[in-house]
Order: sequence, then C-alpha cells, then structure tokens
Amino acid sequence: MDSHSLMFAVLVLSLTPCSVLARKPCNFPAIFNFGDSNSDTGGLSALLWQAPPPNGMSYFHAPAGRYCDGRLIVDFMAKSFGLPYLSAYLNALGANFSHGANFATAASSIRPQTITLMQPGGVSPISLDVQYNEFYDFRRRSQTVRNRLGGFFKSLLPKETSFGRALYTFDIGQNDLTSGYFSNMTVEQVRDYIPQVLHQFSTIVKWVHSQGGRFFWIHNTGPVGCLPYVLSRMPVSPSDYDRYGCAIPFNDLAQTFNCGLKKVVAELRAALPDATLTYVDVYSLKYTLVSQHKKHGFEFPLRTCCGHGGKYNFNVKLGCGGTKRVNGKDVLIGKACKKPEVYVNWDGIHYTEAANKWIFNKIKTGAYSDPPIPLEMACHRD
Ligand SMILES: *[C@@H]1O[C@H](CO)[C@@H](O)[C@H](O)[C@H]1NC(C)=O
Ligand SMILES: *[C@@H]1O[C@H](CO)[C@@H](O)[C@H](O)[C@H]1NC(C)=O
Repeated sequence: MDSHSLMFAVLVLSLTPCSVLARKPCNFPAIFNFGDSNSDTGGLSALLWQAPPPNGMSYFHAPAGRYCDGRLIVDFMAKSFGLPYLSAYLNALGANFSHGANFATAASSIRPQTITLMQPGGVSPISLDVQYNEFYDFRRRSQTVRNRLGGFFKSLLPKETSFGRALYTFDIGQNDLTSGYFSNMTVEQVRDYIPQVLHQFSTIVKWVHSQGGRFFWIHNTGPVGCLPYVLSRMPVSPSDYDRYGCAIPFNDLAQTFNCGLKKVVAELRAALPDATLTYVDVYSLKYTLVSQHKKHGFEFPLRTCCGHGGKYNFNVKLGCGGTKRVNGKDVLIGKACKKPEVYVNWDGIHYTEAANKWIFNKIKTGAYSDPPIPLEMACHRD
C-alpha cells in the first residue's frame, strides 16, 4: 500500500460511523415511564378508579391496573430487558421500584388541565408536568431512603447510578387532542393549540435531562380516528371515513401532532448533545393493524372485545367492566369477548394484549424508529 492509499484508508475508517451492530446492548438497569393509559400500569387505579374486571383477564387473570386484557407495550419492553414489570409510582401497596417507576396515569395529557376529569373533555390531574414533579421527588427521596433505612429498602429502590443509565420512555399526547374534541372544539381549534402542547413536551424532556436522564424513547400518538370512543362520540360526514372505517380528520390531526413531535425531538437532539433521543412511529403500526388486520391474524379491527352495544360494541356510558343494578345486584353488562387475541381493540380506547405484543415486536427492531436503532441499542447516539 503506498502512502497515498494508506492515508485514504485511514480517512475512510475515521469517517465511517461505528456500526450499531458492533456496539454492545445498553443493558438498561431501569425504565422511567411517562404517559397516559397506553402505558399506565396502575396509576389511575391507585388514584381514582380501579380498572374493573374483566381487565387483566388474559394474562394477570385479575385486574392489574391496566386498561387492557393483559400487558401493555411498556410491559413487553421491561420483559425484553429482563426487568420486572413497572410499578406505578402512585401505588402505595406492593410496589417495587428497584428497576424503575411508572409515572403514567390513564387520561393524562401533556398540558396542565384547567377542568376536572368529571367534566366533558376533562382529563387526569396527573398531567406531564405533575409526572415530572413526581419523578423529581422520587429521584431524591429514593436515595435518602436507601441511605437512611438501607436493608430491605435498598432492594425496593433504584441505585443512584441507575438514573443516568435508565431508559426514559414517553407515550403521551392522545388526550391533549381528544380533550379538545370532547369539549366541542373544531379540528381547526385543536390544530391551533398543538404547538403549545409540543412546547410543553419539549420543556419537560429538558427538565428530565437536567435530572440526569440521557436516553429517551418517545412514542408518537396513535390513529385516534380509528378508536370507537372517538368514532361513536364524534361522527363525521360519510366522505370523511377512510376505506377502513377510520375518521380521517382525527387521524390527520394526530399526524399533524406527530410531524411536530418528530421536529421537536430533532430540536432536542441538537439542544442536548449528550442525550440519545429515539422517535418511534407507533401510529403507523397501529394503523397497519386496523387496515391489514387479516394479514396479521386479527379478525376485528374496530369492534371492541370488551363493551356493550352499538356498531362498535362500545357505549361511552357503560364501558368495559360496566355493571347495572338488577334486583339489588350488580350485573356485568360490559363483558369481554371469548377470544381477545383476534381483536385489535380491547375496550374502545385501548388495544388488546395481542395487539400490544404485535406492536412491540415491530418497534423493538428499530425499523419504525428515527434513527433506526433497535430498542436494546437505544443508548447509542447515531
Ligand atoms: C424488588 O425487585 C427486585 C427485582 O425483581 C428483587 O430483586 C427484590 O428482591 C425485590 N424487593 C422486594 C423487597 O421484594
Ligand atoms: C357539546 O355540544 C353538545 C351538542 O350541542 C352539547 O350537548 C354539549 O353540552 C356540549 N359540550 C360542551 C362541553 O360544551
């Protein structure tokens, strides 16, 4: 090799980015999750209303704080890291936070709420800023308790070093969109406030970074226009349904949110050079499940497994697990189907365990991520 080609070889080597495959898996010691019911493993059940039976029927065989017949995407993530399922931060009983904590609660939004959950369009008081405050407190007090009380408590709480090495996961935004529709705003009015929602999201990711978070895994929002709780409450004109029965205006808006989110994640990547941020296109996968359900082993794309009545087996006043008082006894009306595994939708709002598992198996490969890095490698900046 002459000196010229040697120099060329050295140059090429130094310009070639380290191949992701040559890198080691991240071995995340913990997951800290922020979100809504798509990833709530017991928060709202501890705080306000318990997810009633038949939630949990397929896997836990009893209600397990999840609005699902079984496990959620975040459960499959924890499992794939060899970690236990995440305890909800708000759960005072039997929680074990040694490998992370879940700050998500059902009905949470990114923006702080101005109306209560009891009003139309109302969402959970545990909005993303509150979830951050919980995390901030958890980070400090978990270490105080470990150091002061030791022993048993050490096995319940994460090590100090886990915070910098953990994966911080986010799945939130859906309720910021639906709260607008359900309080009678037009699609345009909701579109107008999306930038504020995204700005708040960006601010909170920066706050988590300021507390030592470095690895962020961010799901975009799903096709809400394919969910019975939107379809049945917000009918659109016949020309506004796509060929799969989803309401186009609501899906378009979800995509507007997602485009903005992707941009915000890119901005955060520039603003936080020591952090790794992965944007995950969960929307496409959820939409594929609806549009190509047969190909992927599902029989029912829109009709809910657990519910009662109407075109979608969904009634907003009497949902999954809903009961009616008959002759002094509570009788279950919002019943589950026999085979949840052939339904995409569990209860009109949430996906079945079978759907969640299918989605997880796709997202873990990195094929739906920006940058396209597998889940176990999501600590490596491209
Ligand atoms: C908490 O979970 C970890 C991991 O599964 C386990 O090693 C530890 O013993 C648990 N702590 C208690 C008190 O159960
Ligand atoms: C939304 O509009 C419907 C129909 O006009 C009305 O019944 C309902 O009270 C309105 N909801 C809110 C929150 O304004």
